[in-house]
Amino acid sequence: MDDADLLLGRVLRFDGDPFAGGAARVDPAGGVLLAGGRIAAVGDGAALAAAHPGAARHDYGAGLICPGFVDAHAHYPQTAIIASWGKRLIDWLNTYTFPEEMRFGDPAYASAVAERYLDLTTANGTTTVASYCTIHPESVEALFAAAEARGQRVLAGKTCMDRNAPEGLRDDAQSAYDQSKALLERWHGRGRLSYVITPRFSPTSTPEQLSALGALWAEHPECLMQTHLSEQVDEIAWVRSLYPGARDYLDTYEAHGLLGANGVYGHAIHLEEREIDRLREVGAALVHCPTSNTFIGSGLFDMGLAASLRVGLATDTGGGSSFSMLRTMAAAYEIGQLRGTPLHPGTLMWLATAGSAAALRIGDRVGRIEGGMEADLCVLDLASTPAIAQRAARAEDVWEEVFATIMMGDDRAVRAVWIGGGRVAA
Ligand code: GUN
Ligand code: ZN
Repeated sequence: MDDADLLLGRVLRFDGDPFAGGAARVDPAGGVLLAGGRIAAVGDGAALAAAHPGAARHDYGAGLICPGFVDAHAHYPQTAIIASWGKRLIDWLNTYTFPEEMRFGDPAYASAVAERYLDLTTANGTTTVASYCTIHPESVEALFAAAEARGQRVLAGKTCMDRNAPEGLRDDAQSAYDQSKALLERWHGRGRLSYVITPRFSPTSTPEQLSALGALWAEHPECLMQTHLSEQVDEIAWVRSLYPGARDYLDTYEAHGLLGANGVYGHAIHLEEREIDRLREVGAALVHCPTSNTFIGSGLFDMGLAASLRVGLATDTGGGSSFSMLRTMAAAYEIGQLRGTPLHPGTLMWLATAGSAAALRIGDRVGRIEGGMEADLCVLDLASTPAIAQRAARAEDVWEEVFATIMMGDDRAVRAVWIGGGRVAA
């Protein structure tokens, strides 16, 4: 294994889902051997160094070698309007989001933002994203092309809308089906890319469009389907008026073939019991977007749902106010506190890696440091600023150190990033 790389440092490991009794641990003097784009071995650093003298060594000392972060729900086209002031969901979409998304019919603009977005997320230690694009096929091409050139695992789809959106940002039921299908056939399963069928949410689709996308999903059940569910109370009232025959918000999806085990439902804050039961019955996934849920004023996600449903963690850029999964974990912790359920640092790290990967059904490929997994890694400096370093110096165990970086860390804490076995940052 002469072309192998050996990373030495403290290594974050998971022995299972913490919401099902599993635990996270940190191996204090560990090693991770990378070869052929995969993790070839994990174990004691000195033993791996002795067994693989030809491997290039990267000694990160007290650095924490983690799985690369997996952002389970983002809108890359909203990169340039992140942190826009003063609006709640519907006004925020109309005022800031839709005008910006109009620009993505221009392939040059779409490419420039896609590259910038992947630069920003990589600098924050994120190695996989599941992103919405815009209605323009060009916006999907731009993100997939950028990800492919970087060898990055990315999931994305054309965001379909055929009503309640401005002229120039609407397709129709047939063109949404045709364009989504063409993009799916071109990109799904190509290298590390996955196509995700993406109706934006029930208010911006006619029942005909939801049915057309439901039909496409039935033809391609291997694909994920991502959408938004019960994010704000006003939105739910709007859905009720637009779909008077539906039992509840989830039913607007189910009635059109858009509820299933490969469904990924963003936000899911204000759920009714029937909706929770149905999501559980079908084995769907939810995504917690904590910085967005406070920034746009949506509400407090119930992490107790993770005991019975797969739950991912996400920035929801640019409704979310950060590109950083560290900041996102901090917000998840704060929301847990407001609900009286503080999340352990190991659980937060699991949500940002293996948990999100499981929600996206790629948990057998990324999100954990185990032999055979794809070599996407992020190395954290747990003393990256004076404020964090002085707190870490008082830590009584490694989790106190990790927690200081979760709560106060940013891209300065990201010491190195490896994607597909290649070092891409630091
Ligand atoms: N609901 C429908 N579209 C969006 C969006 O772009 N961001 C968020 N946060 N919620 C949505
Ligand atoms: Zn979203």
